[in-house]
Amino acid sequence: MVVPRLGRSVGHLLDRLCRHSGLLAQPLSGATARRGQASGRPGSNPGAPPGSYSALRAQAAREPAAFWGPLARDTLVWDTPFHTVWDCDFSSGKIGWFLGGQLNVSVNCLDQHVQKSPESVALIWEQDEPGTEVRITYRELLETTCRLANTLKRHEVHRGDRVAIYMPVSPLAVAAMLACARIGAIHTVVFAGFSAESLAGRINDAKCKVVITVNQGLRGGRVLELKKIVDEAVKLCPTVRCVLVAHRTDKKVSMGKLDVVLEQEMAKENPECAPESMNSEDMLFLLYTSGSTGTPKGLVHTQAGYLLYAALTHKLVFDYKPGDVFGCVADIGWITGHSYVVYGPLCNGATSVLFESTPVYPDAGRYWETVQRLQISQFYCAPTAVRLLLKYGDAWVKKYDLSSLRTLGSVGEPINHEAWEWLHKVVGDSRCTLVDTWWQTETGGICIAPRPSEEGAEIVPCMAMRPFYGIVPVIMDDKGSVMEGNGISGALCFSQAWPGMARTIYGNHARFLDAYFTAYPGYYFSGDGVYRTQSGYYQITGRVDDVINISGHRVGTAEIEDAMATHPSVPEAAVIGIPHDIKGEAAFAFIVLKDDVANSDVVEKELKSTVATKIAKYAVPDQILVVKRLPKTRSGKVMRRLLRKIVTSSSQDLGDTTTLEDPSVITEILNAYEKYKQPKC
Ligand code: WTA
Repeated sequence: MVVPRLGRSVGHLLDRLCRHSGLLAQPLSGATARRGQASGRPGSNPGAPPGSYSALRAQAAREPAAFWGPLARDTLVWDTPFHTVWDCDFSSGKIGWFLGGQLNVSVNCLDQHVQKSPESVALIWEQDEPGTEVRITYRELLETTCRLANTLKRHEVHRGDRVAIYMPVSPLAVAAMLACARIGAIHTVVFAGFSAESLAGRINDAKCKVVITVNQGLRGGRVLELKKIVDEAVKLCPTVRCVLVAHRTDKKVSMGKLDVVLEQEMAKENPECAPESMNSEDMLFLLYTSGSTGTPKGLVHTQAGYLLYAALTHKLVFDYKPGDVFGCVADIGWITGHSYVVYGPLCNGATSVLFESTPVYPDAGRYWETVQRLQISQFYCAPTAVRLLLKYGDAWVKKYDLSSLRTLGSVGEPINHEAWEWLHKVVGDSRCTLVDTWWQTETGGICIAPRPSEEGAEIVPCMAMRPFYGIVPVIMDDKGSVMEGNGISGALCFSQAWPGMARTIYGNHARFLDAYFTAYPGYYFSGDGVYRTQSGYYQITGRVDDVINISGHRVGTAEIEDAMATHPSVPEAAVIGIPHDIKGEAAFAFIVLKDDVANSDVVEKELKSTVATKIAKYAVPDQILVVKRLPKTRSGKVMRRLLRKIVTSSSQDLGDTTTLEDPSVITEILNAYEKYKQPKC
């Protein structure tokens, strides 16, 4: 058990929360039991002292309107006040917050701070080239955003139109997001590691009018030909009218009919742009993520609720204080980049670090040299990077002065003990608070994390532990019933809406309902499993669906299978996730080949390149095993569970195999796997 101290600011913030919001005006005794709220868990403690985490959490769960309404009023800058705090019903998938309200997200992230302190630093861009950081003030970021917003308008981007952003982490990419927000356009940032086909799929699904990109990217000293990828993608995208090309390197790239040099256009534009007044529930952005079926889904996040939730979690979970330098090293192509590089920190007027490089470029000290040089206070990263770095040894950390650090955070996948302890002891010198934060693209912001909580409250290693305010976890058994009490595990669901959650899947609300609200009617189903400890804390146990997490990147096994099935020699493929030392999970593919295939090595190579071309390099299976057939149930479903057991279990017990169409397939695959494991000479 580790009991790091918490800075006083969270306590103060909670006090302020209570005072401003009039929260806890009434005693909290007799908190009503809500549907799915088991007794004896943190949050329903009737004896909790006023202002404590438990008391506030109970309040947020019991009276969402009284909790969130005053917070939204006080935290955000509104053009028109809202008349209704929330209108949500999980049984019909209806989610609405701060109805009637109007505001502009870019005003909240920029103008309000420019008015108070224009020269304070909004972004520190830690460029790929070591030691070449660039500081951007709030005034500069607002000006860049407005010029870019005017450029978009000149290219006929109107309120409600979609714009794709395919750029590496950079101030211009942040300005592109905020420029969309300023004019009421909807951005969809596509991670600049995705292939042309993936990019095209997203652009087409969102029907984007404009794509914003760069000539080339730089990562870990390597050049990425991003414009070339965009060229290939837009050939497949009839809705794209214009590609705005910024310049990250000096290299001239070929410019086609649709292409426009972004910097030249921006220079001609006015540095001011009147913000659109957006309704709270208008779309702010789409972000594509993987589910258990083949095509990625465009999760829709809206304006006010998302921003409030990102800002509040940023402040409370990380103990952010004015003057801190907040370092989240995620790429802006993922939700972590959206919420904790851009929207949360900027809404709070923070200085946010944009990390363009990799953890090992030019050496394994890169993160820590950056922390020292930029005086980073909070450092938020993925377990996969920690697992990689700890293998290089402690000396890379010890070399630098990390005394500016106060809070360390981990996100994206379960963090194992070795990585947690190393981050805590070696990086955090056993004095920093380390928070394991659980959340998803769908949840918009952190839902379960050790903070916020009372000062001095314990943090148990490798555990997200405590639900955030307004988050009411419920654990479900196989039959769909709520499990009560502690010391239990099941599927992680939530019984109550919170402002930051996604509202729908773009263009497919039926899929949204089906993916999240059908398995357990009346509840949001996360797709993860969870264990509630004897002490009532939450520990995530991993996905319970066919989604795997490779180096913190989410991908559906069906997506990889679909990509492989396009190969003419591969009639069938089944993909599973297997544990991997560094990546957390790796993809393992079982493939069936057509009879006429002479050389399976060639096909395997082609398959790997197909997956890289159709999805992204990270999704390429580490291992491919040729089998005669896949294990199927009598109804024709592939039993991936059985394949997982064959590869990961040392015991002979493969669980229930009675539904298999032909049980002899087990021996067949076991033999093929044994042969495959033998070293090749
Ligand atoms: C996993 C990332 C264990 C989980 C913000 C979730 C985690 C998926 C944790 C979402 C954690 C995220 N411990 N697992 N602290 N954080 N996950 O949408 O399976 O890219 O459902 O959002 O990552 O991934 P996504």
